[in-house]
Formats: sequence, structure tokens, C-alpha cells
Amino acid sequence: QGSPDPAITEVQPWRRYLGDGVDARPYGHPSPFESHVVRRNVPWLTADTISSINFTPLHELDGIITPNGLCFERHHGGLAEIDPSAHRLMIHGLADRPLVLTMQDLMRFPRENRVYFLECAANSGMEWAGAQLNGCQYTHGMIHNVMYTGVPLRLLLKEAGVRSSGTWILAEGADASGMTRSIPIEKAMDDVLVAFAMNGEALRPEQGYPLRLVVPGWEGNMWIKWLRRIEVGDQPWYQREETSKYTDLLPSGLARKFTFEMDAKSVITSPSPQAPIQTGPGPVVLTGIAWSGRGTIPRVDVTIDGGITWVKARMSGPSLDKSIHRFYHDFEWDGRPMLLQSRAHDSTGYVQPTKQMLRAIRGENSIYHNNGIQTWAVDEAGRAENVEIS
Ligand code: MTE
Repeated sequence: QGSPDPAITEVQPWRRYLGDGVDARPYGHPSPFESHVVRRNVPWLTADTISSINFTPLHELDGIITPNGLCFERHHGGLAEIDPSAHRLMIHGLADRPLVLTMQDLMRFPRENRVYFLECAANSGMEWAGAQLNGCQYTHGMIHNVMYTGVPLRLLLKEAGVRSSGTWILAEGADASGMTRSIPIEKAMDDVLVAFAMNGEALRPEQGYPLRLVVPGWEGNMWIKWLRRIEVGDQPWYQREETSKYTDLLPSGLARKFTFEMDAKSVITSPSPQAPIQTGPGPVVLTGIAWSGRGTIPRVDVTIDGGITWVKARMSGPSLDKSIHRFYHDFEWDGRPMLLQSRAHDSTGYVQPTKQMLRAIRGENSIYHNNGIQTWAVDEAGRAENVEIS
């Protein structure tokens, strides 16, 4: 009843004219009505955008794959625009047959396709001291999940004749920051990839075109972009990014080094501060993501009453090793305020801790490796806010 809905009774503009032909958009972009779905930065976090970070709009995404144009960016010396014909990958050090590979050389090695999350160790870092940023894009958006195509590093190291005395590798980027990280040889010979494609197409410049290291399950800083050199050595190099940065200062004054594996973590992406409930009481599709650097996520628990009662969420989509998993909880909202939380269980049996549990062990000084449970407070109007409860 009531007045007729013009969306049904009127002929809409897009029905009145013929549209663009097939070649009008040789490389496709999202609908203009989706123009709000973008990476965003927090200007006060860094002095400029050259050594800075922006965040994946997790609250706008579904499924498990992050579209290439929405993968967060973290550059320490800006973005390197590399001509692939002038790019080389050198492998040297404790190796019998040091190598310099062109991109064409690399394309002649067997390649693999694998889906992995990349999480910056500083993801949720601002939340150590308490609830800070209002939106999962900002609290948890230093993560993306991509299908990589690349050559197993193991094959390249074998080709270079890595010596048995080689126990560490150093990976170096070709960008202005010359980013370098030490990685144990066991990991390098296990599942590390030298990737040239993401989600089926060439890497984006922001993600390290034409080559990046993929270090599954380990902190994002080690995934060297614009990869140009791998040196084999017999000890870690103790570069800036593994000493003054990406270490965790404990209450004792000692710093924990080499926290490579990212522990299990989850976040509810909707409802959330940037994705309030706008439809009033009734059915709500609560959704979120969970991941672990140690395996898969067989289970996520969800609470809408701040942890008094927990229910098992419904997992949907592929459950891949060291990949993002998608969960849902479909429920009838009675319109009363809620405290939403999610808690991930990984395939090792590890359960995501509360922030209080983390602080009891690691103190208040940390920035990195915060995998504590996130709380969103939802009011009667459906608005959500970042809060912490004890
Ligand atoms: N590699 C190079 N060469 N230069 C960089 O600045 N940033 C690192 C890592 N690899 C960086 C780099 C950091 S701190 C992170 S978290 C990831 O790349 C971010 O990858 P992304 O920009 O694809 O999200």
C-alpha cells in the first residue's frame, strides 16, 4: 500500500539510452556508486605519505580475496616504478653458482599458485593502550589476502648451489628505502615464493612490481617488495627492521626479537563503526574475517553480549593454510545495545587472547603483534563504536 515506488513505476535513465560499447573501458573499474570503497590513511600517523601506510577497507569486502586495487600499502621510501626489462634478481653469498636472473629467466622456472594473507606486524598497533581508531579499516586494515603466482625460492636457491653452511638469507628491495630482512634458510627452502602475479595479473606497483617475496604466515615487513637481491649467509644481518623496529619491548626492558609468525586473529567487519546497522531490528548478517600464520581457522566464536554467551560462527568459503577465512553469524537483532566480539581458534588449537591477556605478558610498550580480541559497541540506533571492556 502507500505511494507507488518510482524505482518500479518510472522508466530509469539506464533504460532510456544505449550504454557504452565493449571497448569503452579496456581495463575495468568498479561502478561509480562504489567510489567510497577505497584505501584510506590516517594523516596524523606519519609525517608524510612517502614513509607511510594506508588501510584496506575491510568493512566493504566479502569473501576471502582482497581485490588488487584495495590492498593496503606500506612503503618506507615511496613506491618504486620499475621497468621490468631493467630489473634483475641477484642470488649470491654462500652459493657455488651465484646467479643474476632477468624477468625472462625467472619465467622459465616452474611456478605455483597459492593464497596467503599478508599482515603488517603493526596491524592494530595503535590499539595497545586502549580503543583508538573508529573503524575496522583502521584497526585491522593492514592486511590483504591474495592468490600469488610465483617461483618457489627453494628452486632458485638450489639453482644457485646454496652451500650447507648457509643458514640465513637476506632479501633486499630495489626501492629508495632499500628494505632488507634476514630470513632463516629453513623457511626460505619451505614455502617462500618469488611472486610476479597477484590474483591472476602482474603485481601492482604498490605491491612490488615486478617481483616480491611471499613469506607465508610471517610478518608483512619480511615480504620484500621490488625484490632485487638475495644473499645467503650463516647468521642474521640484524638490519634496522629487525632490531630497532618490529621487535617488542617487554616490561623487563628486554626486547623480544624475531617474532616472525603472526598469531591467530579475527575481527567483525560488519556491523562495525564504518558499517552500522541501518535497517533497524530484525535479521542481521554479522560477518568478519579470521586468519593464522600457523595454519587454518577451523572455528570462530562470536558474542553479541560482550562475552557472556558465545556461539560458533558459520564458516563459508575455502579454508586455506595461512589465508583469510570468512565467517558469518545470522541472527535476529532485538534492537537492544550489543557488545560484539569474535574469537578465532586455529588448527594448532591456539585460541585468540583478550587484550588484557596479551598485556599481562607483554606489558604496555608494544606496538607490534597485537592479536587481541576486538570489541564493537552497537547502540539502539545501530551505530557501532570501538570500545574495550574488561
Ligand atoms: N619492501 C620494500 N622493498 N620496501 C618497503 O617499504 N614494506 C614492508 C613490506 N615490504 C616494504 C617492503 C612492510 S612494513 C609491509 S607491512 C609490507 O611490505 C606491505 O606490503 P603491501 O604494501 O603490499 O601491503
